[in-house]
Amino acid sequence: MKVLSGIQPTGRLHWGNYFGAIRQYIALQGNEQSFYFIADLHALTSVRDPKALSAATWDAALDLLALGLDPHRATLFRQSDIPEVTELMWLLMTVTQHSLLEKCHSYKDKVAKGISPDAGLFTYPVLMAADILLYDSDIVPVGADQIQHLEVTRDIAQRFNTIYGGEFLHLPNARVLETGAKVPGTDGEKMSKSYGNTIEIFETGKTLRKKIMSIKTDSTPMDATKNPDSCSVFALFKLLTSPEQQAALADRYRAGGMGYGEAKQAVFEAATDYFAEARARRSKLAADPEQVEDILAAGAKTARAKGQAVLQRVREACGLGHQKY
Ligand code: ADP
Ligand code: TRP
Repeated sequence: MKVLSGIQPTGRLHWGNYFGAIRQYIALQGNEQSFYFIADLHALTSVRDPKALSAATWDAALDLLALGLDPHRATLFRQSDIPEVTELMWLLMTVTQHSLLEKCHSYKDKVAKGISPDAGLFTYPVLMAADILLYDSDIVPVGADQIQHLEVTRDIAQRFNTIYGGEFLHLPNARVLETGAKVPGTDGEKMSKSYGNTIEIFETGKTLRKKIMSIKTDSTPMDATKNPDSCSVFALFKLLTSPEQQAALADRYRAGGMGYGEAKQAVFEAATDYFAEARARRSKLAADPEQVEDILAAGAKTARAKGQAVLQRVREACGLGHQKY
């Protein structure tokens, strides 16, 4: 099984990204092909500060490795290190219907928010299709918000195959991440950078505690019994702890006499423990940038070799022939 996914470097990674996506990447490594990349070309559609983009790309690489992505079992690379992906994007653009892209929710949502769209934002799904199709990917683990982009990818691949009369592009399937499908943020809504309600994975100490203490709860009085199942604090606790710990805290909710502050303190302690190993690994990696650069370089080499072979197949299908120079 060939697995591939990408994550945009548009800010520090948060608990929603970890429990919704990264945890799945790690579980799926060690497959026939486990490719994960940092989508820096996609991030250009929203990040226009070069320093911020390269810093976020670097941070994402450190974060993914620290969280358990193992370069011996997975290939980690920067999207922009593979120039073949933009060439494939052009070939795909020539078979992509304008109307297909006009239907994309993520594009329509951004326009509805008042963003004046450039061609990059409009054609974002074609670059994503190229990311996926360049490596003959079978399975693409993504959040529910990306399902439509996977459908677009399949549509484009199918249209290409029909026009050129062969199975040149392999049709992928989305694997929708069910665990942590919707990690709540500090305001109880879906945790997301765009809502400013995130808790960052590598946040520690006072700043972490302050964020956890700010999680919105209802106004049930201290003495009253509380319902763990409708509480965001408890939902976060569940992601970080064992079933025994969860049962113990759920009992405390139902017994009454416990304030939400106590449950938040339990989340703070659980989070500090949960990410302790990853934090230690991250400090080591940060002190050894050459090692990280080597991992990214080796990842790019592996991904490029695969991508070049697929691109050659696609070029020939279009009549562009073998690359000679
Ligand atoms: P953000 O919403 O903060 O901009 P992204 O859209 O960059 O996050 O998400 C990257 C990945 O993390 C996607 O696969 C997405 O589905 C997942 N993800 C983000 N936020 C959450 C969340 N609150 N719950 C579950 N998964 C999430
Ligand atoms: N669009 C994805 C997101 O915002 C990131 C992404 C880019 C991606 N290319 C991809 C995900 C290819 C999976 C496969 O989360």
